[in-house]
Amino acid sequence: QFMGEIMGLSVLEKGIKDKLQVENVVVVPGNSDDYEWVKQEMGKACVSFLKKVTQSNATIAVTGGTTMASVANVMTPLEKADNYLFVPARGGIGEKVENQANTIAAKMSREAEGDYRLLYVPDPLSEISYQNIIQEPSIIEILQLIKNANIVLHGIGDALTMAERRKTSSEVMGILRDKKAVSEAFGYYFDQEGNVVHKVRTVGLQLEDLETMEYVITVAGGKSKAKAIESYFKHGKSNMLITDEAAAEQILRDS
Ligand code: BG6
Repeated sequence: QFMGEIMGLSVLEKGIKDKLQVENVVVVPGNSDDYEWVKQEMGKACVSFLKKVTQSNATIAVTGGTTMASVANVMTPLEKADNYLFVPARGGIGEKVENQANTIAAKMSREAEGDYRLLYVPDPLSEISYQNIIQEPSIIEILQLIKNANIVLHGIGDALTMAERRKTSSEVMGILRDKKAVSEAFGYYFDQEGNVVHKVRTVGLQLEDLETMEYVITVAGGKSKAKAIESYFKHGKSNMLITDEAAAEQILRDS
């Protein structure tokens, strides 16, 4: 029975690697839509991968969300490295405080015995405030750290679920529906083909910045996120997907 389960997961991992064209995949048992512990298991897989790839003096950028909050809960010191720094990937994008990237970066650094720097920006940002804020010396300094991060840890959300959670205006909700947004990551909304259809205005990491990152680590699971995960992986950069059995099975079922 136990061996059977292990075999099952490695078959799913292989299937997902081929279908989404990603170098590294870990599939944990269960469905994180139903059970919180499944997110913790994805979190543990994420921490073990981080331990392998983090070098001394690395900067690790993190996004918000309940999945990243679970990663933070199971974070431990990254033994092979020291002097690492956690930063939020982007300015707060409408999340509750416990699910904000700032909170998660601070928690991760505490558990990992590393350092952290935070990014304080009002949310949402008007064009005029945006233009002013990016000229503040303290903001320029942290933005440099974020853009030069070595590793990024991020979640993926279902587009409309995220938009509602962020109390998005009805005008933008309309745009997301018209353009058939399917997934969301880093404050960008993507359609089924992986094209960006909308972007939340905030400072921090832009999609282009991912190109120079050594590792982009994606953590997203739950049957309800299958379509969203597929959409992000159409164009989005990722070196590692950590997901769960329910999402993986659904992705392989989708045509
Ligand atoms: C948000 C991130 O905080 O969390 C999003 O900004 C991400 O990019 C989302 O899609 C995922 O949330 P959760 O709770 O499903 O892990």
